[in-house]
Amino acid sequence: MFNQAFAGTTPLQGSDIAVQWDSLYNFLVWLSIFFFVLVVGGMIYFVFAYRHHPGKKTQYITGSHFLEAIWIAVPTLLLLGIFTWGYSVYHSMTQAPSDAYEIRAIGKQWLWTFQYDNGRTTVGEAYVPLNRPVKLIMTSEDVLHSFFIPNFRIKQDVVPGMYSSVWFTATVPGKHQVFCAEYCGTSHSGMLAKIIALNDEQWEAWNNHKKLGAIPEAGSDFSSSSSDLSASRVVAQVSLAEQGRAVYETKGCLACHSVDGTQKVGPTHKGLFGSSVEMADGKVLIADENYIRTHIENPQKNTVKGFNPVMPTFKGLINETEMNALIAYIKSLK
Ligand code: CUA
Repeated sequence: MFNQAFAGTTPLQGSDIAVQWDSLYNFLVWLSIFFFVLVVGGMIYFVFAYRHHPGKKTQYITGSHFLEAIWIAVPTLLLLGIFTWGYSVYHSMTQAPSDAYEIRAIGKQWLWTFQYDNGRTTVGEAYVPLNRPVKLIMTSEDVLHSFFIPNFRIKQDVVPGMYSSVWFTATVPGKHQVFCAEYCGTSHSGMLAKIIALNDEQWEAWNNHKKLGAIPEAGSDFSSSSSDLSASRVVAQVSLAEQGRAVYETKGCLACHSVDGTQKVGPTHKGLFGSSVEMADGKVLIADENYIRTHIENPQKNTVKGFNPVMPTFKGLINETEMNALIAYIKSLK
C-alpha cells in the first residue's frame, strides 16, 4: 500500500532494495503527514474551542503522569521501530551475498570504466545479469566521485587509493541511468553511465561476444526501439586474471613471492585471498581487495608476521586497471 501511494514521485523500482527502500521512505512520509495533521489540526481546534469567553475562567492544570508516560512511550517505540527497520534495509544494502557477480568500476574525470572477470572492459556502460546479485568493486583514478543508480536506490562514494563497493539485484531489464553524485570538476554533471540489465539469453550472448539486439530504457516498451550497442564494446582475448598474471610478472612480484605455496622473501600468494593473516604486531587482517592494495602501495604499514619489512612501495607504478587485474589474479590463486 505504501508503495503505490507515491507512484510517479520516485524513480522506477529497478532492484530488490528499491522496493524495501521505498516502503520505508513512504512509511516515513505517511507518518509525518499523520503527525502534521494531528498536531496542526489539534492546535487549530484548540484555538477555536478554547478561545476567550468573557467571564469564563480556564481550569488550572498542574500535570498528568499518564499523559506524560504516553508521549514518552509512543515516540520512543516509533523511533526504535524506524531504527530497526532502517537498519535492516541498510544491512541488506551493504552486505553483498558471497556468490555475487563481481564487476570492477573505475571513476575518472569524467567517465566510468568497467572491468569484467572474462577480461572485457566497457566504458560508460555496465552489463549485468538480471535477477542475480551483482557487486561493484569501485575506485577512482583521480578525485572523489560517487556512483549513484536512482532506479536501484543505491549510492556509494568512489575514493582514490582504496576500494568501496555496492551490490544490487536488478529486477527490471533494460538501461538504468547512473549519475556521479559528488562534485568532481567541470564535467561532473556529464559523468554519466548506464547499467544495462540483460535477461538470461542476452547475458549468455554478451558473454559469448555475440552482438546484442535492441536494449531500450528500463521501464519502456521492449517490443519497440532498435539501437545498436556494439560500438562501445572492447573485446578482450584473455580473462582479467590472465591480464593480472602479466602485470604480476612484468612488475617483478615473482622475485619475492610465489604462487605455488613456497615461501620466499615475502609470503606466498597461493590461497591468500579471503584468508586471515597475522601481522607482526599481532593484529589479524582479512586479505580482501583493500588488504592487497594497501600491501602493494604501502607495504611498510603492516608487515606480515615472520617476514622482514623489505618490500618497496609500488604506489604510482601500477594504474587502476592493472591493479584490478593484479588483484583478480591473486584472487584466482586458490
Ligand atoms: Cu565524478 Cu562528479
